[in-house]
Amino acid sequence: MERTITIQQIKDVAQEAYNLYKDNTEGKNADYIPYLANINPKLFGISICLMNGEKIQLGDYQYQFGIESVSKVLTAILILRQYGAQKVLEMIGADATGLPFNSIMAILLENDHPSTPLVNAGAISADSMVQPIGNSDAKWKAIVDNMTELCGSAPQLIDELYKSESATNFNNRSIAWLLKNYNRIYDDPDMSLDLYTRQCSMGITADQLSVCAATIANDGLNPDTKKQVFDKELAPKITSLIATVGFYQHTGDWLYTSGVPAKTGVGGGVLGVMPGIMGIAAFAPPLDEAGNSVKAQLAIKYIMNKLGMNIF
Ligand code: DON
Repeated sequence: MERTITIQQIKDVAQEAYNLYKDNTEGKNADYIPYLANINPKLFGISICLMNGEKIQLGDYQYQFGIESVSKVLTAILILRQYGAQKVLEMIGADATGLPFNSIMAILLENDHPSTPLVNAGAISADSMVQPIGNSDAKWKAIVDNMTELCGSAPQLIDELYKSESATNFNNRSIAWLLKNYNRIYDDPDMSLDLYTRQCSMGITADQLSVCAATIANDGLNPDTKKQVFDKELAPKITSLIATVGFYQHTGDWLYTSGVPAKTGVGGGVLGVMPGIMGIAAFAPPLDEAGNSVKAQLAIKYIMNKLGMNIF
């Protein structure tokens, strides 16, 4: 039996989730990047964007935080736009790793390809694929333009975060050169790593992320700007990548308990895609031990379960 959910019901449930978790003090800010360690841990925002562009927004939904690993989804979309689904499958892959986001072991175990553009290895590989090859400035422009089209407005580089990440990204430097060893980087490794580090340092709001999520849920048509950002055929590819590995080694637990494909970042953001219905984003800096925002997870799970929404 089909069940109709009203906008008022979504508003009520989102407000309940916000009230329920706003004073939760579990988790800890990411501390391996100095900038992130110093963000106010009390910040908490939720934004939902429906297919008609209507929004439901609570708390710090306009606060600009580091997009971090959520950016992997946006750049995956860019290379899907530039190369098509088949080439991305061949050059990177669409598998889960079952390992943490920055795993080197994942590359060694599956050295014929980096597995998925949504873990560090595949994301650095994706940045290496961005066209035009060999031109860092033009590649960066393509990355930012794509982000802007998806989010409906431009994200802004957080310079202090970029400096903080660049000074501490030793593990990612190893990943870039290991990929080179396996012929899985398609441009200069240091340039590709720098593009990855810069895209992770983009400042984004929950509002913007919910528009990006809604654009994926809406088959590439941005509900805010009404612009067709990518081909309809790519939408299920993107959602499947998110569903497969959005929470890294905890993706199965996440899908089992929330029912919504979602992608996390150590900046505290989570982007969720409910195809044909909504894009949802939540943000709160304290993370669990796997690097996922505690409050954003709780809020999204609560909203999905209470509304009875589940992609399965
Ligand atoms: O690669 C890194 O270490 C970060 N710039 C991004 C990590 C991240 O957000 C992982 N996701 N939860």
